[in-house]
Amino acid sequence: MEKAINDQINMELYSAYLYLSMSAHCEAANLPGAAKWLRQQAKEEVVHAMKFFEFVNDREGHVVLAAIDKPPAEFGSLREIFEQALAHERKVTQSIHKLHGLATGEGDIASLPLLQWFVSEQIEEEKTAGQLVEQLKRAGSEGAALLFLDRQLGERVSKSD
Ligand code: FEO
Repeated sequence: MEKAINDQINMELYSAYLYLSMSAHCEAANLPGAAKWLRQQAKEEVVHAMKFFEFVNDREGHVVLAAIDKPPAEFGSLREIFEQALAHERKVTQSIHKLHGLATGEGDIASLPLLQWFVSEQIEEEKTAGQLVEQLKRAGSEGAALLFLDRQLGERVSKSD
């Protein structure tokens, strides 16, 4: 279980890295709203990693940090970025569900409330990314609609602020 949580810490930190890289791409592509949204998402991923980090420490376990994979540096359109984000969140969800299954199988009752929090959080994460993909599909390549969406993305207030 400890090893699986350590792997999850790495996955959450990779998520932060991925969103930061997407943010840098959007900044360079003159999409400041999306860049800000993605930076905030990166911060939330660090919060996720820290929840697991503190949990392992609180249970007198041993956090072992591994190297974080290099995220892609080049991305496609804004729609493709959020499709990639959605695909990534689905992978994270699978990983959280596996952890939940492991904890249940091992009778590790103490881990379940935290994992349940993450199960709910992933529903939100997938919902948000999915909605953005749908909105971006509707906007197509229409400049005005994309600018409007970018402005809306820039209004995101982070839960971690
Ligand atoms: Fe921490 Fe977006 O999963």
